Amino acid sequence: MAKKVKVQSVTDSNITSPVVFTDANGVAVIQSGKTRYTVEVKGEKSEGAEVSLLKDGRVKVKFSADVGKKNHTVTVTDGKGNAVEDFVVSEDILEVRNLKKYFPLTRSLFGKVLSSLKAVDDVSFTLEEGTTIGVVGESGCGKTTLGRTILKLYDSDGGKIYFDGDDITDLKRSEMIKYRTDIQLIFQDPYSSLPPRMTVGNIIAEAVRVHNIVPKSEIKNYVHKIMKQCGLQRHYYDRYPHEFSGGQRQRICIARALAVKPKLVICDEPVSALDVSIQAQIINLLKKLQKTEGLTYVFISHDLSVVKYITDKIMVMYLGNVMETGETDEIFDNPLHPYTKALFSAVPVPDPDVKMDRIILGGDIPSPANPPEGCKFHTRCNQCMNVCKFKQPQYIEHVKGHFVACHLYDEEVMSHLDRYEKEYRELLAAKEQEEKNEKEK
Ligand SMILES: Nc1ncnc2c1ncn2[C@@H]1O[C@H](COP(=O)(O)OP(=O)(O)OP(=O)(O)O)[C@@H](O)[C@H]1O
Ligand code: SF4
Ligand SMILES: [Mg+2]
Repeated sequence: MAKKVKVQSVTDSNITSPVVFTDANGVAVIQSGKTRYTVEVKGEKSEGAEVSLLKDGRVKVKFSADVGKKNHTVTVTDGKGNAVEDFVVSEDILEVRNLKKYFPLTRSLFGKVLSSLKAVDDVSFTLEEGTTIGVVGESGCGKTTLGRTILKLYDSDGGKIYFDGDDITDLKRSEMIKYRTDIQLIFQDPYSSLPPRMTVGNIIAEAVRVHNIVPKSEIKNYVHKIMKQCGLQRHYYDRYPHEFSGGQRQRICIARALAVKPKLVICDEPVSALDVSIQAQIINLLKKLQKTEGLTYVFISHDLSVVKYITDKIMVMYLGNVMETGETDEIFDNPLHPYTKALFSAVPVPDPDVKMDRIILGGDIPSPANPPEGCKFHTRCNQCMNVCKFKQPQYIEHVKGHFVACHLYDEEVMSHLDRYEKEYRELLAAKEQEEKNEKEK
């Protein structure tokens, strides 16, 4: 989360980006080279409007998802008081805050949950409109559960979900209808997600009809247009899913999702079941559609090469927790978390002169039903310290926009290792004593 500073009517200082407004009268002055811009945001509440400069020198005003850019006016003027037209207004279309999804494991006779599996545990991230976040991590770390909880196919057990300026956390299934078209899902298996007895045209047209996307008389033309956009030939309209290859079926799934004009698409391993050459075609199609339709993606994948190619931001998960988040280039160039380092060390580099220093992860993934105490990764970490065995690391912003949950980057912990070592010894002794007492009973 960006650091919030209160800025009101600043007229004579060199403010470097970003600047964040915290009240409705926010006026900021921001400088690009010799041009000094005055940026004014007016609205019901402008908390979270962040002003920064893009590489091309344009001003960008970004709203966080719980505020939304609706009902706001943004004015940018240059130092001479002339209105500037070419600025960018964007929004975190999705904000997930401390999200939790626990699956009950055991219940008492009266139905009370006695133990649960923490599939998604305290996950937070923001996603800017028109961009892609990659969610990576080994099997069972909670990627699909996260996607399904955002889609509200599962009720959450804590935390908040803001979509397009609205809090959708506690909406009932019936209230979600409004968002059903806005958020779409593309699965890994394009075969099982297509009804076998419907033609391609009908599959795509059905969603268009149900959600009244275009007038009835225009549906067929509209479907043809969407099919063309997704690289499906016109005469496929009357054919059935079993007549197509995996790649073509995935194109049908994408066309069906796109037909309802979504804003956010959750892609859960959309190319994992396809041949490498077909994978590239589908990824390029998703990229092209993002550009033309302004789509935002949550892209869940095991394949880090694909993730590197398609995402702007990456979130690394392990046993339901977020270990690291940051911009894709930053994470690939400078991975911080020992788990990320190990995962990314296996990504092939297309340069024969670069020596691969692959880090092999020891041990199995612990059971999510009974995760290790402290840092959940400590049983497999090659840099584990005793403090990691009992103290959960905090999720801290190491450099701007690059977050990590590891004690190695926590100054407080690293400067008090002696104290934590003592605490660890005491805990160990108390545990041994407890076990001894148990035995003597
Ligand atoms: N409906 C459910 N009921 C109980 N437990 C579940 C349910 N769905 C998932 N889980 C458990 O939650 C954890 C996270 O599962 P999830 O499917 O989200 O992982 P994933 O990261 O998508 O894995 P993969 O890469 O294999 O698809 C796993 O331990 C899984 O067994
Ligand atoms: S907190 Fe400790 S165990 Fe966890 S990743 Fe960092 S060094 Fe490894
Ligand atoms: Mg999954």
